[in-house]
Amino acid sequence: MSEQPILNLEDVSVTYKRADRSKVTAVSGVNLTLNKGEILGLVGESGCGKSTLGKAAVGILPTSGGEITFNGTKVEPLNRSMRSRELLKLQLIFQDPYSSLNPRRKIGDQLIDGLLNYGVDEDEARESSAHLLERVGLSRSSLTKYTHQFSGGQRQRIAIARALTLQPEVIIADEPISALDASAQAQVANLLVELVGELGMSMIFISHDLSVVRQISDRTAVMYLGKLIEIAPTREIWDSPRHPYTKALIQAIPKPDGKGFLPLELPGDVPDPRLPPSGCRFHPRCPVAVAECSVREPQMAQTDGRWSSCLLNNELRIEGSAHVV
Ligand SMILES: Nc1ncnc2c1ncn2[C@@H]1O[C@H](COP(=O)(O)OP(=O)(O)OP(=O)(O)O)[C@@H](O)[C@H]1O
Ligand SMILES: [Mg+2]
Repeated sequence: MSEQPILNLEDVSVTYKRADRSKVTAVSGVNLTLNKGEILGLVGESGCGKSTLGKAAVGILPTSGGEITFNGTKVEPLNRSMRSRELLKLQLIFQDPYSSLNPRRKIGDQLIDGLLNYGVDEDEARESSAHLLERVGLSRSSLTKYTHQFSGGQRQRIAIARALTLQPEVIIADEPISALDASAQAQVANLLVELVGELGMSMIFISHDLSVVRQISDRTAVMYLGKLIEIAPTREIWDSPRHPYTKALIQAIPKPDGKGFLPLELPGDVPDPRLPPSGCRFHPRCPVAVAECSVREPQMAQTDGRWSSCLLNNELRIEGSAHVV
């Protein structure tokens, strides 16, 4: 695995302004690098900012702070047709394939859009779209059909094909399998992994399903309430999670017998992101929090070669007042 960065997020924050003028900082000071050829899993509970981060990373949502670079080019929110050639190589597969495909237009017309904008001749665009549909396991006759003629799994394959039309180098796949039934989930996840390898791409795979992330990703990044709280090679995260939140998430993965999820063994729900708790955002739910956790904000730091954002793992430990959790 190369350690050559292809997509770099530096201190990235994203703030939404709601209609009632309240503000939500959905992503707060995230540093993250995707390397060439890598599959990076991004996990965390609903509402922690995964989709927001994905949209900002491809430049379809403005950031409120920080900088994103793709192959050295600054990623900025621009009208699609104004995006530089370079940024077309950075594509997002949206969380919801139902709303991201247009029910009133034939699949073929939706697939060729990007290519036509890019100056490709129409026959050539149709031929390459047909080829892509075949590559994702659909027939070329799908070009003349409409979204409602396909199952959920097939629509997700179409969304993948559409993201691939411009031969991206990086794809950000936002929960690409969560709306599918179990057998389609495995097929679509495997298809993505195959395509990433075959086409020499890199991928951020966003999911709340840690068991899939474990199977397919080289590294795993964990978010909590807008912040990155741990990142490591997937095996390390799995074998020895460092952050108390990551530990709770891993305990909550589906049981091996497949009979549902174990509950997340944490008190309370994810707090309102408009009013994040003081100090460490996780402290009200943390089983090992100490008094200092409610007043001092931890930073991502590396101790014993492992990155996490926990006072007990880093700051307090270095100061000699805590043992590693
Ligand atoms: N358009 C928006 N306007 C205002 N707030 C928003 C908007 N989109 C998302 N949010 C808020 O930003 C926070 C992060 O949302 P986001 O959709 O990024 O989370 P997520 O991790 O992708 O969740 P899920 O797992 O449910 O997809 C949430 O508190 C959400 O309510
Ligand atoms: Mg989401």
